[in-house]
Amino acid sequence: MNIPILDLAPEIDLLWENLNAAFERVMRSGQFIMGAEVTAFEAEIAAYLGVKYAVGVNSGTDALLIALRALGVQPGDEVITTPFSFIATSESAEALGATSVFADIDPRTFNLDPAQVEAAITPRTRAIIPVHLYGHAADMDALLEIAARHRLCVLEDVAQAFGGRYRGRKLGTMGDAGALSFFPSKNLGAFGDAGMIVTDRDEVAEMAKMLRAHGARKKYYNEIIGYNSRLDALQAALLRVKLPYLDAFCDGRRAAADRYRNLLTGIDGLTLPFEADYAHHVYHQYTVRIADGRRDTVQRQLAEAGIGTMVYYPVPLHKLPIYSGRGAHFPEAERAAEEVLSLPMSPHISAEAQAQVADALRAAFR
Ligand SMILES: Cc1ncc(COP(=O)(O)O)c(C=O)c1O
Repeated sequence: MNIPILDLAPEIDLLWENLNAAFERVMRSGQFIMGAEVTAFEAEIAAYLGVKYAVGVNSGTDALLIALRALGVQPGDEVITTPFSFIATSESAEALGATSVFADIDPRTFNLDPAQVEAAITPRTRAIIPVHLYGHAADMDALLEIAARHRLCVLEDVAQAFGGRYRGRKLGTMGDAGALSFFPSKNLGAFGDAGMIVTDRDEVAEMAKMLRAHGARKKYYNEIIGYNSRLDALQAALLRVKLPYLDAFCDGRRAAADRYRNLLTGIDGLTLPFEADYAHHVYHQYTVRIADGRRDTVQRQLAEAGIGTMVYYPVPLHKLPIYSGRGAHFPEAERAAEEVLSLPMSPHISAEAQAQVADALRAAFR
């Protein structure tokens, strides 16, 4: 049996009738961009997280960019973030004329190391973007304390960790704002691009709402240069069907992670995911480390056995040509890029499929 890294079919089968009903409702409504579905979805996300505002936009990438601008980050400012993330995280700074400054990661959690963040602060630093990578919380208390001491904004990148928690607090609710992605493969995935900004701050929400709609509070009375980043009604309606299942699906991921741990413990040279005492990991990815330069060979052997895996991410951001020339060296991010491998994971992955992955992995290590 071939095992893809992600199989969305069981989730869609389970929700098929409700998804179709939502689809039909939008088709018949004639309202395809923003409108009642988006307003209702925003209210449901705000209630789920316990925040004052949720502002729908058309991707996680836009959520980061618009949130940074709404937080007041300006051209010339510096934004500290992790070099071990998807490009959208750091790109948000450059897209508005600011500069990304990287700080190395904690090798156990793959997330920003607070001590490295503090060392990267300059008089131009305006914001920190912690990423809760793979579904595991960044060390928020330490980061929030540093931010408060240096008067910096904190924008949480929750793209991979919606449903996750830090010391019982939902991710996305601790910083000045949070950016969610509903990219189809995410823990709450749409049927296209979609994203959201969440915040308790009145002026940040108001600015984000303006920015997503061409800088206008009132149509055709544009006040600033903004974007077309409105959320589609169809995506909102389909996501509303899935949202009530998010916690159960995250539990399914955690159960699958437990099964992997039982199956994979004791393989020499294989490091299993770490869960810090402060984190409620929601395993957007189940990412192992394979040391000694063997990762690519193991990945190839798994592919030959019909098992899909991915490397998130093979090139740390500071090594991309767009950021080269900064001369920085982040040894932990660089080592992670050489060692990480994400295994098949979903809320509905079967124990049999996981056993097959484990057998193939053991064989590759033999
Ligand atoms: C950590 C991280 N940040 C931001 C994004 C951007 O989200 P989107 O694809 O919805 O634009 C993604 C994923 O795609 C991501 O993994």
